[in-house]
Amino acid sequence: MSTTTLDPIEKLLEATVSGKSLIKNRTVLHHTFIPNNIHHRDLEQEKVTQSLLPILKQSRPSNILIYGKPGTGKTLVVRRVLSKIQERVEKTNFPIKLIYGNSKEETTLYGLLVDFGRQLGLSEKELPTTGLSISEVFKRLLRIINKNSLNTVFIIDEIDFLAHLVSKSKNDILYQLTRSNDRIKNGSLTLVGISNDLTFKDRLDPRVISSLGEEEIVFTSYSVNQIHKILEDRIQLAFVEGAVEESALNLCAAMAGREHGDARRAIDLLRVAGEIAEREQKEKVSEEHVRRASQKMEEDKETAAIQSYPLHEKLLILAVMRAGGSSTGEIFSAYTKLCKSVRQKELTQRRMTQMLSEIELSGIISGRIVHQGIHGRTKKFKLTISPETIKQTLKKDLILEDLV
Ligand SMILES: Nc1ncnc2c1ncn2[C@@H]1O[C@H](COP(=O)(O)OP(=O)(O)OP(=O)(O)O)[C@@H](O)[C@H]1O
Ligand SMILES: [Mg+2]
Repeated sequence: MSTTTLDPIEKLLEATVSGKSLIKNRTVLHHTFIPNNIHHRDLEQEKVTQSLLPILKQSRPSNILIYGKPGTGKTLVVRRVLSKIQERVEKTNFPIKLIYGNSKEETTLYGLLVDFGRQLGLSEKELPTTGLSISEVFKRLLRIINKNSLNTVFIIDEIDFLAHLVSKSKNDILYQLTRSNDRIKNGSLTLVGISNDLTFKDRLDPRVISSLGEEEIVFTSYSVNQIHKILEDRIQLAFVEGAVEESALNLCAAMAGREHGDARRAIDLLRVAGEIAEREQKEKVSEEHVRRASQKMEEDKETAAIQSYPLHEKLLILAVMRAGGSSTGEIFSAYTKLCKSVRQKELTQRRMTQMLSEIELSGIISGRIVHQGIHGRTKKFKLTISPETIKQTLKKDLILEDLV
């Protein structure tokens, strides 16, 4: 095939096949990758291992609660400790089961318990995915643990996602779960909860907290220098030699370190910057690519937030955009007009005011109180993101397509 072809598809395909790749191993940049070297986390690795050690002597470790801001290596450290213990277990044939579940993927306690049951070897027949009461699921889990004298550790990652949904009665199940060891004659059950939401404790029953947090391990945030080191290692594994400029690396570390040291954000920045540079057939990833990566990630986040809103919230965002820095009253009339043109019944002004506050929380719009002398106060709202992003996103909504 000639390289001078002008066909746009051919051009791209050709560039991919013959073009320079900067990234030599993409999986290394994926968040599930477990590196061999975990820098700056020796103490945390020791603590987690130490806490779980009793299991190797077939006694019960304490329940553990692990805390720390996003991207501070909690999942990574726990998964690595688990896999190291697992290696030993396989050699010795101890009746030990280490089971990992993520509440972001299984957001109901029911789903999570069924998932645990599957990993304990319970079939669909022994533990149906639907139809049982949650306490029955729980009973069946305990039964199999007892029957096989299993020493079990349940790891509930991102446990705060579960806590959101936990109602009073289910809170009780969570409590029973943390205390379930008392109901096991043979074998044991330990819970490990991981959370990046430092406030989630407030939402839980204090009894759950005290029995889940028999032991607590806190992961501190990384410094810019620590992130720098983590990135250096990742670059070596993921990129061809010399493909990332030193200044680009520095910028990634600085940007990710600025808010709180988030290694995930740092690695994501690096990956997206690498993809941008590759697409443009550049020799190296530069600072400029990192800046654009950051911008792109920000826009993607905004787009996702807008897309996830129900219709009336979207109409309101449009109303704010149309009305441009206006008072609640003006926004309401813009919104009413929009409702008419898409043949939707408008919600009450009270409800609309509520929704504005909710949208404000997501940072897409911002509001400020304005005093109007004898007329009292009003709140004015304006967009904080570009109208272009909003238009592009809302265009994809069939109902709104013609409006924007
Ligand atoms: N010390 C480290 N050395 C190497 N890579 C690290 C280190 N800490 C974190 N990472 C990497 O950073 C990313 C985020 O880490 P991890 O998923 O463990 O964060 P987390 O604390 O579980 O965050 P969250 O609370 O958001 O789930 C992963 O890709 C992980 O491999
Ligand atoms: Mg995690």
